[in-house]
Amino acid sequence: MANVLCIGAGYVGGPTMAVIAKNCPGHRVVVVDINAEKIAAWNSERLPIYEPGLDEVVRTARGRNLFFSADIGPNIAEADIIFVSVNTPTKTFGHGAGRAADLQYWEKTARQILENSTSSKVVVEKSTLPVRTAQAMERILNSNDRGLHFDVVSNPEFLAEGTAIQDMEQPDRVLVGARQTASGREAMQAIVDIYAEWVPRERIITANLWSSELSKLVANAFLAQRVSSINAIANLCEKTEADVAEVAHAVGTDSRIGPRFLRASVGFGGSCFKKDILNLVYLCEHYGLPEVAAYWEQVVKMNEYQGTSFVQKMVAAMFNTVAGKRIALLGAAFKANTSDTRESPALAVCRGLLEERASVVITDPYALANAQADLGEQAEQVVFEPDPYVAARDAHAIAVLTEWSHFVELDYEAIFQSMVKPAFVFDGRNILDHKKLHAIGFNVYAVGKPPLTNFTA
Ligand code: NAD
Ligand code: UGA
Repeated sequence: MANVLCIGAGYVGGPTMAVIAKNCPGHRVVVVDINAEKIAAWNSERLPIYEPGLDEVVRTARGRNLFFSADIGPNIAEADIIFVSVNTPTKTFGHGAGRAADLQYWEKTARQILENSTSSKVVVEKSTLPVRTAQAMERILNSNDRGLHFDVVSNPEFLAEGTAIQDMEQPDRVLVGARQTASGREAMQAIVDIYAEWVPRERIITANLWSSELSKLVANAFLAQRVSSINAIANLCEKTEADVAEVAHAVGTDSRIGPRFLRASVGFGGSCFKKDILNLVYLCEHYGLPEVAAYWEQVVKMNEYQGTSFVQKMVAAMFNTVAGKRIALLGAAFKANTSDTRESPALAVCRGLLEERASVVITDPYALANAQADLGEQAEQVVFEPDPYVAARDAHAIAVLTEWSHFVELDYEAIFQSMVKPAFVFDGRNILDHKKLHAIGFNVYAVGKPPLTNFTA
């Protein structure tokens, strides 16, 4: 039996450790965080994040071999294996601001581990980090004069929010990277053994430390690049009366390309794509590769264009002014099945519409509290309404910004009747039945498709 500790009880630390604890009843798993409120929520009936299937997994393991605690020091002392899953946001100050990863939380944990350790340990990088971070971690940890040895292993997380439990229960792959030394290999094996409790061995990939660290950034960059690529083409579709869904289908059926991550949208959001690509851009610049940096930076620029041009298209369609008009935004979360609003395109659209002095109402089943917090002072100008029918009442337009499935099933006939005419729908996720909406009387604007309007002149 091993004592497993995870530092950081966020979107990654909480769910990953819950799944490990569920599948490894022989291990004791403790998750700690500096945020005592969050820990209290993990110990309550109302978990701090919404994630399908998470409640059941936590219920199975919590109190048996899964524990959440705000008591960091003693838990470090007892641990054999420490996963570090703290936040690694983009740096907002000093050299590399707006691009490089802010490693202050990360470094603090290294020092906490060192301070509280009385035995040698395996330290696992679960957070997404710049390539070669493990070297800094090793240097800090092994700087002790107490004869303690620390092996640093990279085990990046590939879960996507909204499908986190499924992604971890049946991962495409698990990646473990370590130093190719005797103790490095032993440490790597300890991590492989944990996953091998439920993941088929052939899906557990081992690699050198730097490949593992870099692969995580590259995986996110490739995924985001596909979204930006199809969104770029969506803009061309809008000019040429091609339909981006048909183009994506035709292109994606080529088995070399594949169908996934080709859904044109108002843009990608989430806490990681932008941050990780900017980190990659920074690394390329740091290593003297400006052309490579510029190539990847374009993925982020394209995404920003997608959000701002969506707002411009709304304003243009609504006779070049939305000032004082009520507009209902369907969705605040950055994607369906999560309460997370970090970098959500819905909030970018909301801010753009506020600048145009629209009267904005947001509805979302799980993400309203986070949206309110993320909008800061601007939240005072926004109405947060859990009921989509109430949100749409007296609105000039509704805009779908998160692909929640229940938005598809709303009674759009009733919504149309309750709205100001001419009534507009802007489908930033291409999930609605556009022909049906058009027949009801809506003027329909989707991403990468010809608009369907009911104007006669
Ligand atoms: P998060 O902000 O939800 O959670 C991080 C937690 O770490 C917070 O609760 C914070 O209080 C805690 N923390 C910070 N410093 C601490 C310290 N010194 N001691 C104890 N706790 C501390 O972040 P997240 O979304 O879980 O992401 C964590 C890492 O995982 C990031 O590097 C991210 O890039 C990566 N990642 C995230 C996802 C995702 O879907 N969110 C997926 C894969 C990888
Ligand atoms: C992403 C990756 O998919 C995970 O593998 C990775 O672990 C994670 O980032 C991370 O490192 O944080 P996540 O951001 O949770 O996961 O969600 P995705 O499903 O990747 O969606 C990201 C954004 O792209 C969402 O806003 C989504 O709506 C958008 N998207 C996705 C599209 O607009 N079109 C698509 O075809 C796919």
